[in-house]
Amino acid sequence: MTLKLGMVGAGGMGMRHAHGYIELCKQFDSFRLVAVCDRHAPAAESVASVVEKATGDRPGVFTDLHRMLDEANLDALDIVTDTRMHHRFAVAAFEHGVHVMTEKPMGVTIRACHAMRQAAQTHKRVLSIAENYRRDPMNRLAKALLDAGAIGRPNFMVRMGLGGGSALMHNTGWRALKSRAGSMIIEQGVHDADLMIYFMGDIQTVYAETGLFARIRRRSGMNANLARFYEHRVEEEFAGQDTIELDQEDSAFAVMRFASGAVGHYAISNASHGHAVGVDTIHGAAGTMIPPRSRTGQSPAVKLEGAVQPLTGEEMLSLVPDWELNDITAPFWGGVRRMASYDMPFDEIDRKLIAIEYAELARAITGGAPVEVGPETGIKALGLAYATLESGMTRQPVRMADILEGSVEGYQAEVNAANGL
Ligand SMILES: NC(=O)c1ccc[n+]([C@@H]2O[C@H](COP(=O)([O-])OP(=O)(O)OC[C@H]3O[C@@H](n4cnc5c(N)ncnc54)[C@H](O)[C@@H]3O)[C@@H](O)[C@H]2O)c1
Repeated sequence: MTLKLGMVGAGGMGMRHAHGYIELCKQFDSFRLVAVCDRHAPAAESVASVVEKATGDRPGVFTDLHRMLDEANLDALDIVTDTRMHHRFAVAAFEHGVHVMTEKPMGVTIRACHAMRQAAQTHKRVLSIAENYRRDPMNRLAKALLDAGAIGRPNFMVRMGLGGGSALMHNTGWRALKSRAGSMIIEQGVHDADLMIYFMGDIQTVYAETGLFARIRRRSGMNANLARFYEHRVEEEFAGQDTIELDQEDSAFAVMRFASGAVGHYAISNASHGHAVGVDTIHGAAGTMIPPRSRTGQSPAVKLEGAVQPLTGEEMLSLVPDWELNDITAPFWGGVRRMASYDMPFDEIDRKLIAIEYAELARAITGGAPVEVGPETGIKALGLAYATLESGMTRQPVRMADILEGSVEGYQAEVNAANGL
């Protein structure tokens, strides 16, 4: 059964989703992309043209989501707008009986996520969060190794991503504004949060110091892997501005306690001038793992106490004899189900991970297994990102339970107010 899919938000990530959809069509006929919506018609037309060129089938173009929902008879909506629209568009879709996949962060605040979760439950529709990093086969292998006790009981972990300098993230105006993004560090922070929870389990408490260290941001330069996806985007609001002023924190330095008793040390900054620094390690009772860099094909690295060399790929695979890629992942890796690394350019990995998200959504809609990153998991990732900001504001430790139920939300108050939440 081929389901009718619509996409709203045809900017940089919307273009990447179009390539994910094209990749999906090579393996599964679960969806037909019948409509693309962006408030800027030329952006939607660009995405429609890319889809038409690859599939021979041109989606209809809309500039208003409500009109698309009224006219396109969709089964599912893929939300790829900037984050502040996620909850409004998800709720509107559910009210039309349409299933939803939304890009991360699930919503602009925890309140926004609660509204989305409630509407999905009320209308009995699927809500999937497009969290792509964990779907990388090498992150799957890392998780399997941790679960199999390859490094013993994880005791502590360190994750640091320090970069950015004075550049504006993805050269995107809305990312500079608290009312529209929550915080620039949430953009990358939810990926980090999702992976930390995926690998280490739930978090109980967080203490963080936060700051804004690079207030004035240059409008130039973009990650070479991503720049080509943003060429068609229309962004009139900040036209003519060479710089944009950031109005929220760009750095957080946190210490976390996991429910397992493990301790985490997490630092994220978009204001490291000069060197970009990445550290990612998990330290267990018997050894250390360096998880793979997502979307590189690189293997996790495991070194056991007393060993001279890290484990080879063969040795790692022998520790997880039952681990294999599932039925909606393996087809995108040529049917290969077990591997310790792979060699593929970024674009290809990126579109395959998005295609898996679509395949999983279709499977859930048609009565198969539930989606892996549903509302509960999506809220936890955003909850950790906001926990650092809430703690940073009060300079007190916060309990994740309070963040997730929304009883600690002082940092988010002005974001909620700006978005009618
Ligand atoms: N998973 C990932 O790796 C990843 C990477 C980048 C972005 N994202 C997420 O994807 C989302 C989009 O990010 P982006 O980089 O593509 O931003 P973007 O600014 O390039 O694109 C957003 C698009 O949404 C459109 N839009 C905004 N409001 C709209 C409305 N009311 N109706 C119709 N269209 C509207 C804009 O015109 C724009 O074309 C964000 O939530 C972001 O966090 C995820």
